[in-house]
Amino acid sequence: MNDALAAWSRSRLMVVEAALAGVCPDAEPGLREALLYPIQTGGKRIRPLLCLAAAESVGGDAAAALSPALALELVHTYSLVHDDLPAMDDDDERRGRPTVHIVYGEATAILVGDALLTAAFEQVADSPILVRELARAAGGAGMVGGQYLDICGNVDGIEALKHLHRLKTGALLRAAVRMGGVVGGASQLQLQALARYGEAVGLAFQIADDVLDADEVTEDAGPPSYVRLLGVDGARAEARRLVQEATTAVGELPRPQFLLLLAEFVAARAF
Ligand code: IPE
Ligand code: IPE
Ligand code: MG
Repeated sequence: MNDALAAWSRSRLMVVEAALAGVCPDAEPGLREALLYPIQTGGKRIRPLLCLAAAESVGGDAAAALSPALALELVHTYSLVHDDLPAMDDDDERRGRPTVHIVYGEATAILVGDALLTAAFEQVADSPILVRELARAAGGAGMVGGQYLDICGNVDGIEALKHLHRLKTGALLRAAVRMGGVVGGASQLQLQALARYGEAVGLAFQIADDVLDADEVTEDAGPPSYVRLLGVDGARAEARRLVQEATTAVGELPRPQFLLLLAEFVAARAF
């Protein structure tokens, strides 16, 4: 990670991590322990960082973006807990640790997801605009819709793959920068620029994930991926093009520095 981005992230994440550790203070104690487990096993916190950087990019204050930043990470964490369940991806490990259902059981893992999703909306309850933005990005026309397309498994070609990823991961990344923009006082034009940035970074993020997984890709087997459809070099070129698109979209904002560095960081995993 670039030094300036690392220093900025470190200072912003101190506040985010402290606030995350305090969520759902009055949940039933056993449930609270279980829901803090996936929150405190790390993660890149890319959605909160995008939200804070977007607020700052339009001259807003990072403190005002804390609530939406937390809401985004709570929705993301819930999605991972449910995604790992036996009925979905059936994964025993995440971030090098046993998954929530392995440690606490399946029923508790479902409830942990439910509690995190509900807590996310409590974070933004004072702002109907933020509630709507988050609901659209997280729901059936966004992340949950993308998960549905993923489990259906009939993605056949690059356009269908892009559509799936726009919903599954892109929608929440796009919402992250738009929600940051809203609390930062962005104009409609600035919000549109942030949306274009979020869409490009969302796809670049997924391409980088595919390139990182490329070792596991064998010629024709397995689900479609950018690497399988475009080749490693083609996927890298597409990630590069998307970073350029993201950079151009926000270049005219008052203080785009950390958005630009975050776009580079997201795609850098592909190189
Ligand atoms: C992983 O997301 C799952 C997808 C949405 C593809 P991240 O790469 O943001 O996961 P963490 O939070 O850093 O572990
Ligand atoms: C994770 O998706 C959950 C969401 C994106 C909502 P994936 O199944 O693609 O990611 P990993 O491999 O579990 O992190
Ligand atoms: Mg999974």
